[in-house]
Amino acid sequence: MSQYRAKPSDGVAWITGASSGLGYHVAKNLAASGWTVAVTARSEDDLQALADECKSLSGQVIPTPGDVTDQARMSDIAENLVSSHGGIALLILNAGVYLPLRASELKLADFDKTFAVNLNGVTNCLVPCLNHMRDAGRGQIAIVSSVAGFGGLPTSAAYGATKAGLTNMAESLKFDLDLINIHIQVVHPGFIDTPATQSNPFPMPFLMQVEDAASRLVDGLSSSGFEITFPKRFTWGLKLLNLLPYPVYFWITKRATGWGKK
Ligand SMILES: NC(=O)c1ccc[n+]([C@@H]2O[C@H](COP(=O)([O-])OP(=O)(O)OC[C@H]3O[C@@H](n4cnc5c(N)ncnc54)[C@H](OP(=O)(O)O)[C@@H]3O)[C@@H](O)[C@H]2O)c1
Repeated sequence: MSQYRAKPSDGVAWITGASSGLGYHVAKNLAASGWTVAVTARSEDDLQALADECKSLSGQVIPTPGDVTDQARMSDIAENLVSSHGGIALLILNAGVYLPLRASELKLADFDKTFAVNLNGVTNCLVPCLNHMRDAGRGQIAIVSSVAGFGGLPTSAAYGATKAGLTNMAESLKFDLDLINIHIQVVHPGFIDTPATQSNPFPMPFLMQVEDAASRLVDGLSSSGFEITFPKRFTWGLKLLNLLPYPVYFWITKRATGWGKK
């Protein structure tokens, strides 16, 4: 069976984490291609500003504010989109937080928040949408993970664990979803210039502009491939790094991040 690719006439696109950064620009990009895009995040004003900014485009943006950790609210949004807009054709699970952690001052609350938003926030939207897509006999889902999930990086004990988990979740679901005409993809971006990375305490090689990253993500949605990754020179380099024996992996990573001196 060829992979299903969602199109605007099939229903709405729902994207989480659309009040800033990558999600904001992906939503704008989809609206420019004629999609009706439901956008979720906690900052209602920013979602409304996005909807206003997209008014002249061929598609439209519908603010559906909410906290992805609120399971009932995410189910309600999914149900409303199905009943009022003829179904969810495309789901982009993008909301995420990055809280840099140092072993010298670990806080349980930072782990809990990261796991709640990045993991439960994804399943809270994924499950109601998958139930709907299964009934509809088609659907497309992209889960925004990160190269930080490939292997442990400094300050990423919580963030990296969630992203490794999301990649594994997408891989695992693909086996079943391939059988029921649901196209699942995982997104592995490198560094993108967004509010989330502005205070990163280490060098960010191959840093991408957010508009460029958003269009690479949207382009990837039309491919039948499982992985959407950019910029490839960096992300494939990291994949190779993670194949090396641990002593070499840690040696190179410490030098590349400057962590050997801290
Ligand atoms: N920037 C990078 O270098 C990079 C690299 C790889 C992967 N990524 C991933 O790309 C995704 C987008 O990140 P970004 O860089 O664009 O960061 P960002 O600008 O900080 O955007 C994060 C988005 O997630 C939303 N969000 C956070 N907590 C939420 C919650 N509890 N409920 C609902 N929405 C919530 C935020 O909205 P509110 O605060 O309004 O709720 C915001 O819209 C994340 O999954 C991130 O891990 C980013």
